[in-house]
Amino acid sequence: MTNSHHNRKSDIIYAALGANERDIVDKIKLPWLRRFLIRFVGVKLRLQFTGWLQYLMPVPIVLGLYIMSGLLYLLLPSVATIFVLLPTLLLAIILFDIVTTRLRIRLPEPLPKSNEESDVFSLMRNRRSCRSYQTRPLTDEHEQALLESVTRHLKEPKFSESNIRLEWVHAPLTIWPVVNARHFLIAIAPAKYDRKAVLDIGKTLQKVVIDVTRMGLGSCWIGPGADHNSVKSVLNERFDENKDAIICVCAIGYKSWYTPLFIRIFNAQFHKRLPLESLFFSDNDLTQPLKTTGESFIQYERCFESCQWSPSSYNGQTTRCVGTQIADDQLRVDFYAATSSRYYAAVATGIWCANWEMGCDELGQGGSFRILSTTERGISAPQNVNELPHYDVSWISKDTLPAG
Ligand SMILES: Cc1cc2nc3c(=O)[nH]c(=O)nc-3n(C[C@H](O)[C@H](O)[C@H](O)COP(=O)(O)O)c2cc1C
Repeated sequence: MTNSHHNRKSDIIYAALGANERDIVDKIKLPWLRRFLIRFVGVKLRLQFTGWLQYLMPVPIVLGLYIMSGLLYLLLPSVATIFVLLPTLLLAIILFDIVTTRLRIRLPEPLPKSNEESDVFSLMRNRRSCRSYQTRPLTDEHEQALLESVTRHLKEPKFSESNIRLEWVHAPLTIWPVVNARHFLIAIAPAKYDRKAVLDIGKTLQKVVIDVTRMGLGSCWIGPGADHNSVKSVLNERFDENKDAIICVCAIGYKSWYTPLFIRIFNAQFHKRLPLESLFFSDNDLTQPLKTTGESFIQYERCFESCQWSPSSYNGQTTRCVGTQIADDQLRVDFYAATSSRYYAAVATGIWCANWEMGCDELGQGGSFRILSTTERGISAPQNVNELPHYDVSWISKDTLPAG
């Protein structure tokens, strides 16, 4: 194959990548390495979006265990008979998963109960990514309440002057590794990179996610697991390649009990969280853990916990905070991104801002978000924009000025 053929193929794959993946690829300057990375991502996406990978992931383990049973049979036939039960059981589970979730031959499930009685802290703490959905559509009542939540939160003050959008679509988009999702919110920011708009997406969409959690619905943020080509074709004229960038999507629906084995393992693996002392600090170098139960900050204890349980892309947990007492009765919390990811780390920080603000509202603690200069934050040395941690925004207690 010629060089230009390789280039053409890489260009086609590159055009189908999401904004975040393109951003990673764009950091690679060596042409051959860049082409290799694009092709690698292309293969990964092809496998992911067949919709079969989540069922077939345990198959190599099953085969390995059968081979081991065969070898064991040559040495200890009686033990091998018992050992062979393990891969057989795994195989039975895989077949059950395929029949119930891929072919969707299964008993109907009831509508989940609403969580109307829960306070916002319990909702933020107990929300979990839902990666398997019932096939029934949302009831009119739920859909209406969801759309009202979107309209309400989109009207709130924003960090950016640019418009963000949350487009509602009904379509069986292929997403990884989630199964049977039929309803999505597609988060769209301006095509020209605007970090504040990406923060707004995180903050706004998380508030909608907590509202749907209150309604008893399941949700799952999807960034790298979304097939951007199919999202664009479903959006059709609601998406303009020259003006819009898809930042992420969020699946929303009724959680299903039928969940493929691989997804159960995935859910468990990607749910652990760093301790508070690795997330909250009292100095800008992020070396001294903040005394979150000390006299100044104790009233915000549940807000710290709600940030800790915020979702982040593949559970990267990229947000950090620095807490400072700026006056006798006034506090400031600075939100930073710990990685250079321009999209998902900014979304994650926006999600923290949402949880922090919802927590403060619940506690009746007034305050507002502001983007401060280094001088306003008491930092004398000028900071390089690429320096980590990357400062995004501050929350100031008893502050009534609007964000911006
Ligand atoms: C911006 C963003 C992108 C995400 N992308 C994906 C994804 O592509 N696929 C997926 O299964 N989960 C995705 N997640 C969900 C995270 O994996 C999940 O929030 C994290 O593992 C923590 O688990 P929990 O939500 O159950 O607490 C994403 C989350 C965020 C905030």
